[in-house]
Amino acid sequence: ENDLNSKLPLKGKTILITAGPTYEAIDPVRFIGNHSSGKMGFDIAKSAANLGANVILIAGPTHLNINDNLIKIVRVVSAQEMHDACHSYYNDVDVAISAAAVADYRPKNVAVQKIKKTEHSFNIELEKTKDILASLGEVKKNQFLIGFALETENEIENAKLKIQKKNLDLIVLNSLQDDGAGFGRPTNKVTFIDKDFNIEPMELKSKEAVADDILNKVIAHYHA
Ligand code: CTP
Ligand code: CA
Repeated sequence: ENDLNSKLPLKGKTILITAGPTYEAIDPVRFIGNHSSGKMGFDIAKSAANLGANVILIAGPTHLNINDNLIKIVRVVSAQEMHDACHSYYNDVDVAISAAAVADYRPKNVAVQKIKKTEHSFNIELEKTKDILASLGEVKKNQFLIGFALETENEIENAKLKIQKKNLDLIVLNSLQDDGAGFGRPTNKVTFIDKDFNIEPMELKSKEAVADDILNKVIAHYHA
């Protein structure tokens, strides 16, 4: 192997990454969302580009931005838009990493006009969104498919079920930190579980360092 290849071990590979929250419309001015900052996914994109990969970063609403010749950012809002964007690129990618905090439910009907406060109370009926990662697993050919899992109980067992249900090659289990989850924090405590159920707990570290660890798993896959 020449020097350039060893410095840029993912040169020539294309990596699809999802990041950030999704917003699900209630009416023209309101939505259901979550506190995901998008930082984990953007850090993964940076690490991948630093290793020479072409990156397609499908980002839900976030103020984060990256300027890098190797990173194409595709901005989306809803889970449905993120789903459609992912599938439009998936056929041609080598690796897909699902770091987005996709809304699990969305309003079943979106009000055309702004909802007025005429009622004392009202309910919003919700329906499930598409599971984007599972849908990628269903049509997987040679892609190396990586998902995340956030669990508060039976962590390992639930993460293993997600590997099987979504046809993943690797899952990054986000363990709760002493003072709560990784949302809005600069650090993550993760455990890697591969499709053969090998379990590798990692130390608490910065999201940048977790991103590097994830890309090292990708490199190991191609250089095994
Ligand atoms: N995910 C996705 N599309 C969804 C929901 C989740 O692509 N509609 C992806 C996330 O990006 C993550 C993985 O699925 O990589 C697991 O997300 P998580 O919320 O932990 O699990 P769910 O499958 O949504 O199940 P639950 O929330 O009930 O634990
Ligand atoms: Ca979920």
